[in-house]
Amino acid sequence: MARMNVLVVGGGGREHALVWKLAQSPKVRAIFWSPGNPAAPCDSKVEKLSLPAEDSDGLARFAEARKVDLAVIGPEAPLVAGLANALRAKGLKVFGPERDGARLEGSKVFSKRFFLRHGIPTGRAEMFSDFASALAFARRHPKPLVVKADGLAAGKGVLLCRDDAEAERALGQVMREKAFGDAGREVLVEECLTGPEVSVMAITDGLDFRVLASAQDHKRVFDRDEGPNTGGMGAYSPAPVFTPELEARVRTEVFERTLVGLKVEKIPFCGVLYAGMMLTPNGPKILEYNCRFGDPETQVVLPRLKSDLAEVLLAACEGRLGNVALEWTFEAAVCVVLAAGGYPGAFLKGDPISGLDAAAAKPGACVFHAGTAIRDSRTVTHGGRVLGVTALGPTLREATARAYAAADAIAFDKKHCRRDIAARALAAG
Ligand code: AMP
Ligand code: GLY
Repeated sequence: MARMNVLVVGGGGREHALVWKLAQSPKVRAIFWSPGNPAAPCDSKVEKLSLPAEDSDGLARFAEARKVDLAVIGPEAPLVAGLANALRAKGLKVFGPERDGARLEGSKVFSKRFFLRHGIPTGRAEMFSDFASALAFARRHPKPLVVKADGLAAGKGVLLCRDDAEAERALGQVMREKAFGDAGREVLVEECLTGPEVSVMAITDGLDFRVLASAQDHKRVFDRDEGPNTGGMGAYSPAPVFTPELEARVRTEVFERTLVGLKVEKIPFCGVLYAGMMLTPNGPKILEYNCRFGDPETQVVLPRLKSDLAEVLLAACEGRLGNVALEWTFEAAVCVVLAAGGYPGAFLKGDPISGLDAAAAKPGACVFHAGTAIRDSRTVTHGGRVLGVTALGPTLREATARAYAAADAIAFDKKHCRRDIAARALAAG
């Protein structure tokens, strides 16, 4: 196989991890990373571009001109907006679903109906586009219940309601005040499920799928799962809750049925199916699908992958995933997210970051940039989630200790991280 030119779209911690892993492949000649982030290039193969993910025409023209052999789209927004369609229209191989497939993430009404049509276990729900009917249903419904805005809402469109007043407020916020814009034109009113949550990612070419190493995210901003939801404050892999029995059920009840459903509905899908699952007393149920790699889950899963990621993703694009076996290291990985004080609310930007090199030099460590910028040739904070500090270790305990040793080497004003990443798994194990 000739060496490949790869385009990676996105600029967060997930994309940094993808670029870092792809750069290790001897099959990769060059990686064009757009818009990228200020992470120091992990390899001379990496070239940054300044085209934003929304510029689908510009990206398609660039990819064609520079003979890109494989395009990998990281975030959900460009997938939902149809970037994969624009790139495929130029004959390019794209890892990431087209607009139709991305509706599994982009519309909770579409995905709920899809789950119901194809017998994929999920919570009971009704869909509404009219406030009065939604409210009348919510009043009749046992509490607590969950109100979900249909469209993308940066992880904020799910509201837990303990009584009628909260349900009325949630529906008002989503449907009348349009707190999430057009995402709230339709809502789901869903039964409240309980149990531990686990995310399960699989790579698929639409015919076959390969489940990735398990990972557990930590969504709340403070220790002991307190405070508001965030994009994810850290992750570890493997996740002991994801037992072989559970994996077998998720394979047959979720991924296999999803692939049958996609086929029946003639929706092509090459990319990641990320199932957010709740392990309820009545069995695993899917809360949502994402149509891309998880962030920060990718920062712990990819360091554990021994296989050549470029080969795996190209095989998926060419419908050859059935011939691919993924190999994983026995080592565990832990990622501690360093956030800007105030996140997920308002936070400051522009604070100088020190200790990046010292952190990266710690045993097993790897520092992924998520929200940084360069100012006066210094790396400064720029996003809510600033860095993802990952470490590999022979055990989960060792990986956790190493990740915190590296995370503690980094300093910036009002740096915040959870101190209990992986703690539950360590206590159980
Ligand atoms: P989602 O975007 O659907 O994953 O929802 C975000 C978070 O809301 C999930 O990670 C769960 O913690 C919570 N959630 C979603 N659906 C439900 C439900 N039916 N019952 C209880 N919690 C839920
Ligand atoms: N870590 C949650 C997500 O990627 O959606």
